[in-house]
Amino acid sequence: MSRKPFIAGNWKMNMTAASGEKLIKDLIPLVKDADCDVCLCVPAILIPAMTKAAAGSNIAIGAENVHWAASGAYTGEISADMLKEYGVKYVIIGHSERRQYFGETDRTVNKRTLAALNAGLTPIVCVGELLEERESGKTNEVLDRQLAEGLKDIEDITKIVIAYEPVWAIGTGRTATDAQAQETIAYIRKKIGELFCPKCAEKIIIQYGGSMNAGNCKGLMAQNDIDGGLIGGASLKTDFAAIVNYNK
Ligand code: PGA
Repeated sequence: MSRKPFIAGNWKMNMTAASGEKLIKDLIPLVKDADCDVCLCVPAILIPAMTKAAAGSNIAIGAENVHWAASGAYTGEISADMLKEYGVKYVIIGHSERRQYFGETDRTVNKRTLAALNAGLTPIVCVGELLEERESGKTNEVLDRQLAEGLKDIEDITKIVIAYEPVWAIGTGRTATDAQAQETIAYIRKKIGELFCPKCAEKIIIQYGGSMNAGNCKGLMAQNDIDGGLIGGASLKTDFAAIVNYNK
């Protein structure tokens, strides 16, 4: 079964309205003939300006987090409907930085994912192990837990995207080897087959993330089970276009 590749950027807490707009304008002609789906997930406050800058192009705009409640007394939070109002299509959920610094758990990942799906957004759910977990042979065990708890009660699992991001590879310049990324993503796909259905496992888009760049994207994207990338640092420059055009 063929899966359409999907390359997404994650700006994290970087860029301003002016620099973001310039980057998007520079990227538009560079990515216009992409064979994959393209998205930039940006800080919430930049969403209105970036959706405007990307209007009419093949760059979709995404968010970096979403709250699970529709509205209410949650100071500082943003709901799925608020994101939708500004044309957001995708939302990153459970990024390792949110798990590490902001108390995100598999339970809150699950609540946010269900809320995003309910509103018609496509969640990009991040999973991945810490260095000590990999070194002590616990990678699969960690992924089993993150997938079973984070994706609980999802009716159509093919409506989400999974980003496998080994925490030791994020922002470190230390990418997983092609074989390591392939092996782990194939494991995730198999697990989705067990937790949901084998057909869903063949259909679901699974990205790799962690120091993916213009130099290593070809090798990673050539792997059977890797359907795309979630790109941090390299999405802050026009290098992002080289990743989007990995097959050209
Ligand atoms: P990186 O970040 O590409 O800078 O390693 C990836 C991510 O955190 O999504």
